Amino acid sequence: MSTPRELVAQMTLEEKCSLLSGLDFWHTKSVERLGIKGVMYSDGPHGLRKQDDQGDHLGVNDSIKAVCFPAACASTASFDRNLVRQIGEAVGNECQHEQVAVNLGPAINIKRSPLCGRNFEYMSEDPYLAGEMAVGIIQGTQSKNIGVSVKHFAANDQEHRRMSSDSVVDERTLREIYLPAFEAAAKRGKAWTFMCSYNKLNGEYASQHKWLLTDLLRNEWGFDGIVMSDWGAVSDRVKGVEAGLDMEMPSSAGVNDAEVVKAVREGRLDEKYVDLCCERIIEVHNRYLEHADPSTPWDKEADHELAGKLGADCMVLLKNDDGILPLKDGEKIAIIGEFANKPRYQGGGSSHINSFKVTSLLNAVEDKPGTCVCYAQGYHIDSDDEDAALVAEALEKAKAADKVVVVAGLPDNYESEGYDRKHMRIPPNQNALIEKVAAVNPNLVVLLYNGSPVEMPWLGLAKGLIEGYLGGQNVGTANRAVLWGEVNPSARLPETMPVKLQDTPCYLSYGGEGNTAVYSEGIFVGYRYYTKKEMPVLFPFGYGMSYTTFAYDNLRLSAGQIKDTDTVTVCVDVTNTGKVAGKEVVQLYVSDRESEVFRPVRELKGFDKIELQPGETRTVTFTLDKRSFAYWNTKIHDWHVETGVFDIQICKDADTVILSAPLTVESTVEIPETFTEDSITLDIRKNPKAMAILSGLLKGGLSAIFGDDKPETSDAASEAVGDEMMEAMMAYMPLRGLISFSQGKINHEVLKSLLDQMNA
Ligand code: BGC
Repeated sequence: MSTPRELVAQMTLEEKCSLLSGLDFWHTKSVERLGIKGVMYSDGPHGLRKQDDQGDHLGVNDSIKAVCFPAACASTASFDRNLVRQIGEAVGNECQHEQVAVNLGPAINIKRSPLCGRNFEYMSEDPYLAGEMAVGIIQGTQSKNIGVSVKHFAANDQEHRRMSSDSVVDERTLREIYLPAFEAAAKRGKAWTFMCSYNKLNGEYASQHKWLLTDLLRNEWGFDGIVMSDWGAVSDRVKGVEAGLDMEMPSSAGVNDAEVVKAVREGRLDEKYVDLCCERIIEVHNRYLEHADPSTPWDKEADHELAGKLGADCMVLLKNDDGILPLKDGEKIAIIGEFANKPRYQGGGSSHINSFKVTSLLNAVEDKPGTCVCYAQGYHIDSDDEDAALVAEALEKAKAADKVVVVAGLPDNYESEGYDRKHMRIPPNQNALIEKVAAVNPNLVVLLYNGSPVEMPWLGLAKGLIEGYLGGQNVGTANRAVLWGEVNPSARLPETMPVKLQDTPCYLSYGGEGNTAVYSEGIFVGYRYYTKKEMPVLFPFGYGMSYTTFAYDNLRLSAGQIKDTDTVTVCVDVTNTGKVAGKEVVQLYVSDRESEVFRPVRELKGFDKIELQPGETRTVTFTLDKRSFAYWNTKIHDWHVETGVFDIQICKDADTVILSAPLTVESTVEIPETFTEDSITLDIRKNPKAMAILSGLLKGGLSAIFGDDKPETSDAASEAVGDEMMEAMMAYMPLRGLISFSQGKINHEVLKSLLDQMNA
């Protein structure tokens, strides 16, 4: 069989350029005379959205009946790499069955603000968590010889003006917050394809961003797959080809292919770029074509069950006063809220799955032995107004019950792909209902369906609270399992739940002005912001309760001091001290005690989910390396560790440290420095070599400027200033100050030779 390169060598320029864009909405082209076949791409990633003829990328037209797994907002809350891997495997099998070569996901943009309309599809505010979960789902899908398309690359964190907005992000923030999940997807996930985003990044469309698509993704991270455009993201196709955008989707009906042909003919584009794109397209499609297996079974019922089973591990128990949960058999439970009957279990837009079946909470409790349940609708999902009759019925049923579960949340039109939310509230009729129910029956549990945080004005009135997120088509089974304790809840918040919108890190700048969105909060996104400001939140990142309790003990490090080229092993013992089996998410954060640069209080650098029987103890082990301690240094354009003490913290959540141990990390990298006449004393003092040269040259009173001697102060005013203040003021003195203060002994020439030696 010919290699991709050999095939490309036999193609005409027209054939090659035609290969660089879709045939239609979902298929790629073939070159029949050479046996090059087209393949199909379909949306995902929490299911398969395979459309036939009437394609659209907004979730408007129907797709084939399929299975909707928990959306990423929920599945990431599991903090379980294996759980998302299972979703990936199931979707991979479904793709094999349906002859779809690439499933378009995971979507791993950072949740910069709770307002982003697509947060339900995205994973986390934390890049490490998003990266780990991305790798899990990628490995699952690709283990079935189906490609993923990691999207939307990059800095696509708002829907407002999504096709024209320019994300203005500084270098360090990009590297520390917005890129690491993509980096993990490329390096460790070995994703077959990436999808560039619609937006611009620092002034250039992602679809023609050479640094992003080639220098970074391919040359630095080693990505060897296809970069495809988001649907309609191409602006200048010729620039895109040169930048490394292999595939334009959907078809431009030949318009842009002709542009590329013309550019090559006119000498504006080197044909080698066209060849490269073609080779990559053929090679990646072959990964699928050589293993295509439409005989792979797709048992929808089995996947529905899997969705329910996994869904239970995605429910976050946030409040459980007086042990109101789990509900007990025999208790009379009123279930209130239309969502209990018509669950919202996925978001709107291109990821929308046409579920072959949906199990609501009401469906799920129908056949549950020993439950005693009555239902009241309580509100209309599609209205903000109260319905007096529905409220009256709900209150009557609530009064007569032992405990009440109100199912509330965001209706479809409140959050969706294509636009952002304007506020964080659920509909007023639902808020009002919860408060009224609490007034007649204080044994109240609220179960939320939403893709992104909401304000909870009634939080103090609810004894129990479950964040159900968007739990997939078998959400009812998952809810039932957690409510009645058939499954012990074990999920944790993959994002902070702020008190109110005004508290959020990018409140002042989110959405941008016109087409410019400046990420002015920098690296302080999510818990990195709230912990730094010691700001009260409703629930911190990483938070989540269980029906059992866990004790932590015996934190130990393999070394007390390491070099930044070494790794260190961290072990901690975790014991289930309660009465039921349960899963615990063990979280490791690293905190830099002192730093020259702004750093978060702590950052997640490891997590593991373990299951423990009552009384059982297990040791959890983490390995930390340079990246665990490093920040992105913009002088060397690389990761850098500052020599010093770091605290290795085992935490319950981003706010709560359980155990901590210090570790000294020594840098092996010297940051090159160039001193100039404008360099100040403070910075020169930090560089022992430069300081030695300087001290050697200075004599008498002048060295006072650099702290060797006391300044010669005779007048009363100087004495009043005091040594400490004098030294502090001198610290900010630039080298050129020597000219004024040396009374003519030092001039620019002297300074120049001094600087030459200091910089040598
Ligand atoms: C979305 C992508 C999606 C594509 C195809 C776009 O509008 O941003 O996430 O994969 O459409 O449906």
